[in-house]
Amino acid sequence: MIIDSHCHLNEERLYVLRKNIIKQAQELGVDRFVVVGWDYESSFLAVEIAHEFDCCYASIGIMPTDIDSIIGKDEDKLYELLKDPKVVALGEIGLDYHWEKTPEQKERQKEWFIKQIDIANQYKKPIIIHCREALQDTLDILKAHTPICSGVMHCYSGSPEMVNDFVKLGLYIGVDGPVTFTNGRSIKEVAQVIPADRLLIETDSPYLSPHPHRGEMDSPVYLPLIANEVATLRGVSYNELAKMTSDNTERLFKL
Ligand code: NI
Repeated sequence: MIIDSHCHLNEERLYVLRKNIIKQAQELGVDRFVVVGWDYESSFLAVEIAHEFDCCYASIGIMPTDIDSIIGKDEDKLYELLKDPKVVALGEIGLDYHWEKTPEQKERQKEWFIKQIDIANQYKKPIIIHCREALQDTLDILKAHTPICSGVMHCYSGSPEMVNDFVKLGLYIGVDGPVTFTNGRSIKEVAQVIPADRLLIETDSPYLSPHPHRGEMDSPVYLPLIANEVATLRGVSYNELAKMTSDNTERLFKL
């Protein structure tokens, strides 16, 4: 059995298909799902899904590029969701300099990242970190504001050398569909060097479909393709990889 430690069944395209997707995925051995919010509305929907299905858990939080979604809304109402037993993390939160590059935008992202790490620490929850083209700033913030209940570098896009910098902070590393791409050399190396007790697998569906479905809509149904590739790269059996990543996911999110 494997766990999709990061998927967006709360995204509209997957949401309408959620019952079938969960059933199909379970038939392929994907037995549990962490449904991750990225803005105000999607966080509430993630919690709703976690209550609809025993096999689903939720994470709530505001992504760096979706800060506008919480402006003018009731912030306390959002973060109080962290008291819900099916809410296992705060995220995805972090920095994204791909879409927002001005000094003002970067500053606002950093403020919200730090603020949400503090909230996670207050509620004793791990965090799910979104980081795009902002590795050094993300690392610097995490060093100064270390999440006390750990977290995961979701969809890790850094170098193999940098893995250890995040591991030393107590974090886990998430590997996604790109590990199956023929040109995914750096992430293939990353998948080999992550310590066995820090590796997570995730689809980030509906984004980042693995080979041979690249470009199509992704879903948790494709998680075994990622697990299989990572097992091959690490020279372990599929079952060993499944146990290793499930244990890690359970430990991090206290499932
Ligand atoms: Ni995501």
